[in-house]
Amino acid sequence: MAKVLGGVFTSHVPAIGGAIQRGAENEPYWKPFFDAWPPVRQWLDVQAPDVVVMFYNDHGLNFFLDKMPTFAVGAADVYTNDDEGWGLHPFPIPAGHAALSWAIIEKLVEEEFDITTCQQMLVDHAASIPLALAWPGREAPVRIVPITINTVQHPLPSARRCLALGRAVGKALAEWQGDERIIVMGTGGLSHQLDGERAGFMNPEYDKFCMDNLGPDPDALTQHSIHEMVELSGTQGVEILNWIAARGAMGASVSEVSRTYHIPISNTAAAVMVYETAEATASGAARTEKTPALA
Ligand code: DHB
Ligand code: FE
Repeated sequence: MAKVLGGVFTSHVPAIGGAIQRGAENEPYWKPFFDAWPPVRQWLDVQAPDVVVMFYNDHGLNFFLDKMPTFAVGAADVYTNDDEGWGLHPFPIPAGHAALSWAIIEKLVEEEFDITTCQQMLVDHAASIPLALAWPGREAPVRIVPITINTVQHPLPSARRCLALGRAVGKALAEWQGDERIIVMGTGGLSHQLDGERAGFMNPEYDKFCMDNLGPDPDALTQHSIHEMVELSGTQGVEILNWIAARGAMGASVSEVSRTYHIPISNTAAAVMVYETAEATASGAARTEKTPALA
């Protein structure tokens, strides 16, 4: 049976991609952010996932304001990244897992989510940069299922709806008959605002509330309306919706493996977290025993 091992949660600021492509990871500005990643990579080495279900928001590369699905699921075997105007060279994107995508789509529709299904999909920096951080210098050794949430054009889905979406994805993963080792990723956030009078706004107190509760009590993050979340986290800080959905897909009980929080990266309070499931704790320990080099 497939195993859901855990989740990697990270900010996805485009400038991080620029730092990777310039080789600037050890410069004083960047080092505190990149220092978050060796423990994440070590966890990934031990868990050896072969599928990433990626919850993120598209920023205008695949969906523009004229056509904006609330929730969209990729159903392709091939995805590509493209120039978004940030001065980044496109990152390599691993293959899709169309069969698993369709199982997730079937479950979401059965659970009455009116999603958009995309058999062609460009994936933007919110998917490509987290993969490049997790598996630097190579195409990620996984297949992906991209799931986008509209965090861009109001009205946005509520945090409660995003958590329910994630939980429905979790049901699809639990019922999937393959033997894949699956992780989720939730990207974006934490607090940031790129435009308007509050440009540059960040809120460490709300970010800490999110990081403290996401694992043990994700429902706590659904107490705020979208407008309260914009107030608390900034117009783009609502990307925490992607984290909430990804957390929902992990099942009821998770434990925190690592957490890093650093202000600022560009205009963003940058955070990186890993949670694992009980399945990961068991199977990671078993793998470490069999493969002492990973210990
Ligand atoms: C920034 C952050 C984002 O999440 C994004 O998608 C684009 C830019 C920033 O802080 O520069
Ligand atoms: Fe973003």
